Amino acid sequence: MSQRKLFLLPGDGIGPEITAELEKIIAFMNEKAGAGFTVEKGLVGGSAYDAHGVAISDDDMARAMAADAVILAAVGGPKWDNVPYDVRPEAGLLRLRKDMQLFANLRPAICYSALAASSSLKPELVEGLDILIVRELTGGVYFGEPKEIIDLDNGQQRAIDTQVYDTYEIERIAAVAFELARTRDNRVCSMEKRNVMKSGLFWNQVVTRVHDEKFPDVKLSHMLADAGGMQLVRAPKQFDVIVTDNLFGDMLSDVAAMLTGSLGMLPSASLGAEDPATGKRKAMYEPVHGSAPDIAGQGIANPLAMIASFAMCLRYSFNMIAEAEALEAAIADVLEQGYRTGDIMAEGCRKVGTAEMGDAVLAALATKLAA
Ligand code: NAD
Ligand code: IPM
Ligand code: MN
Repeated sequence: MSQRKLFLLPGDGIGPEITAELEKIIAFMNEKAGAGFTVEKGLVGGSAYDAHGVAISDDDMARAMAADAVILAAVGGPKWDNVPYDVRPEAGLLRLRKDMQLFANLRPAICYSALAASSSLKPELVEGLDILIVRELTGGVYFGEPKEIIDLDNGQQRAIDTQVYDTYEIERIAAVAFELARTRDNRVCSMEKRNVMKSGLFWNQVVTRVHDEKFPDVKLSHMLADAGGMQLVRAPKQFDVIVTDNLFGDMLSDVAAMLTGSLGMLPSASLGAEDPATGKRKAMYEPVHGSAPDIAGQGIANPLAMIASFAMCLRYSFNMIAEAEALEAAIADVLEQGYRTGDIMAEGCRKVGTAEMGDAVLAALATKLAA
């Protein structure tokens, strides 16, 4: 069995707590399924700042580059609210995405039927929900220059962020969305604000051209991003794949998270382009949620988004489809069995902490991998 190099970045807040549950699953897969994972760990975010004065060290950056897959739990927290902007915890995450060129962020929002009642929406609106947000991750206003606060002659200050998209950036994310749509319900809804933004108009034009030239079989629709947010909470099941820019994708995926019951349920995969020579792609897997400072250190965080992110890793980085499906089925099982962390707790269910939830997934997985 060839080695599969994983680089884990537990980060801050609840990050180390949910990473511990993932490590149990990785160890189990090595022991019981001969998966051959090797695990290295590094520092990112506030924990890296405390150790090295930066949000990720060059050494850890190099180890991330050399890994087959990076798994990052969460960064940030009030402890680092006043550190210099360039070394704030989030800068580590952004550097990983940018330097590894992880332009395609897949954020599936699936509502497990056992959790339909945990959503803030009526159960019938979310039951059976299965949408995929494809968020552009290395461009747009997150990285556009200039990005600064400048002093004006009149004593005022001016803050500038710049939304920039080049043709190739939109072409490649559109292609990812269309390709994934073909494996699902074959529908893509592109969201932008062409009514106020040049970059929105351009996004719309490029997505339409890529569609017409290469993916005419996929059903493409367009929606203004504000209306898209409204439609996501009005009738979310109308969507299959949503493709959108970096900032709209950030906001819309948090909205989508609540459809599934909790931010603690939403996984993501951040993928780079496939290297034609090796067929491999750089990848990082991260739950959509943050470091949840309000519940950190209490052992009550939901580890399921982290575990589901690893299922995406098995699928996209290692083509371990059977294992990915077994892990996802194990998550569905524990929810059916009534295990609930506080964020998804419902009447008549069994309230558990982070470790107990991880153990329950492990037990469910054991029955599947043995079967
Ligand atoms: P958050 O996602 O950390 O928390 C929002 C709410 O959801 C909180 O009430 C929290 O308790 C709850 N929550 C989140 N994950 C949970 C889980 N696994 N189980 C149970 N409850 C969970 O967002 P925030 O409070 O806006 O941000 C806190 C910090 O996290 C900030 O510094 C932010 O920049 C950072 N952040 C990091 C990432 C990341 O590392 N990928 C993502 C988002 C936010
Ligand atoms: C996310 C987060 C990040 C983002 C932050 C922490 C930089 O909110 O992954 O959704 O804005 O992309
Ligand atoms: Mn976000």
